[in-house]
Amino acid sequence: MTDATPSADGQTLTVRDDRTGKEYVLPIVDGTIRASDLGKIRVSDDEPGIASYDPGFTNTASTRSAVTFIDGEKGILEYRGYPIEQLAEKSSFLEVAYLLIHGDLPSKEQYDSWVHDITFHTFVHENIKSLMQGFRYDAHPMGMLLSAVGGLSTFYPEARNIHDAETRHLQIVRMIAKMPTLGAWSFRHAQGKPYVYPDNDLSYAENFLAMLFKMSETTYEADPRLVKALEVLFILHADHEQNCSTNAVRSVGSSQVDPYSAVSAGIGALYGPLHGGANEAVLKMLRRIGDVSNVPAFIEGVKAGDERLMGFGHRVYKNYDPRATIIKKATDDVFEVTGVNPLLKIAVELEKIALEDEYFVKRKLYPNVDFYSGLIYEALQFPPEMFTVLFAIPRTAGWLAQWLELVNDPEQKIARPKQIYTGERGLVFPSSSERWG
Ligand SMILES: CC(C)(COP(=O)(O)OP(=O)(O)OC[C@H]1O[C@@H](n2cnc3c(N)ncnc32)[C@H](O)[C@@H]1OP(=O)(O)O)[C@@H](O)C(=O)NCCC(=O)NCCS
Repeated sequence: MTDATPSADGQTLTVRDDRTGKEYVLPIVDGTIRASDLGKIRVSDDEPGIASYDPGFTNTASTRSAVTFIDGEKGILEYRGYPIEQLAEKSSFLEVAYLLIHGDLPSKEQYDSWVHDITFHTFVHENIKSLMQGFRYDAHPMGMLLSAVGGLSTFYPEARNIHDAETRHLQIVRMIAKMPTLGAWSFRHAQGKPYVYPDNDLSYAENFLAMLFKMSETTYEADPRLVKALEVLFILHADHEQNCSTNAVRSVGSSQVDPYSAVSAGIGALYGPLHGGANEAVLKMLRRIGDVSNVPAFIEGVKAGDERLMGFGHRVYKNYDPRATIIKKATDDVFEVTGVNPLLKIAVELEKIALEDEYFVKRKLYPNVDFYSGLIYEALQFPPEMFTVLFAIPRTAGWLAQWLELVNDPEQKIARPKQIYTGERGLVFPSSSERWG
């Protein structure tokens, strides 16, 4: 028996290495063992110890985190302990952003000063505008956003000083404030419309809508029901613990680079179709189905394995995605203003049939956040390329909360996974005559 430092609560895992017959007692803390403890299991001192192989980190915790809690089996999502349903109903996006970043709800004074600070950092340097105007007329807005956020690091070189709390805070305020401006401008660019400057008399969501849709009117007045729906969508998308883009932000941030560069890595990850693009796929699917009468045949095709029912199923949620329930409710409010999206009928019928069908029930496949969000975005006049931008704006609060946690976590190191090398070894470099004759 070797090496036992039992955990505080005394739980251990005993591992027997059949190559040597040795037994190792590894402490179990919070349901995990330390990967470095596995490294102690080795055949001899000059050979590397055992490592775990986990592409996609499907069963590896990379951090301790107090930001977001998910229980996929029970369909629970909480930010800093507050259930998402309560936040969506009772809070505003900026209050949720404060909660994520600071860990606690703000007092009235703290909230007012937070909103004031965010509101007064919405403008960007004119050269960022020139940078964005330099993109091709048909540039994808997500590519523009990614570049603009990365570019901000050059305007705020002090952001490199990540060890100073005040400097960190200022960059967080700047980034949350400027994302709607950059997102809206990337939208206007594709339409050939002039970029609209922020209006500091408007709320966060109102200001975003104004920068997207304002034309010649002096003040843009958005329908309060749409503003509320956008706030709710922002709250639902603000964080989702260690997903692909958050992991990208943490991984890049672990090199101690400035937060603009780390967040632009997150935007890059979110750009990918496996992460931020599913709601667009839902819309395409609904259009292809075309009519409620075609739903049964489509479901049969899904069950036969011809294709997937997009917007259904989740890696973590095996009961119901709590965000989907809230979004479904928000669709009613939005459609009251915009008129019903004809695709909604097809979506509702798909959901009804799927929820009763043995195939979906057995596999615990339920609607996820993307099943209805695309319908809302379309009703709000957004082209599909904007969907991921609408995701990136609120997720910036989550990325930054996670980045802050990373920077303050003494256990974190530069992210550097191991590999299992499968290539050649020790080849002799041939001379040019041997290679090319
Ligand atoms: C989200 C998703 C990638 C999760 O995948 P996962 O956890 O790796 O689950 P698996 O791919 O192992 O699927 C498990 C089983 O359910 C089936 N399944 C999963 N999602 C399905 C879907 N949307 N439609 C039909 N069948 C589905 C799989 O075919 C598999 O069946 P099998 O056991 O007979 O092979 C997957 O559910 C999916 O592709 N959904 C559609 C895309 C989507 O909406 N993505 C947005 C996520 S927020």
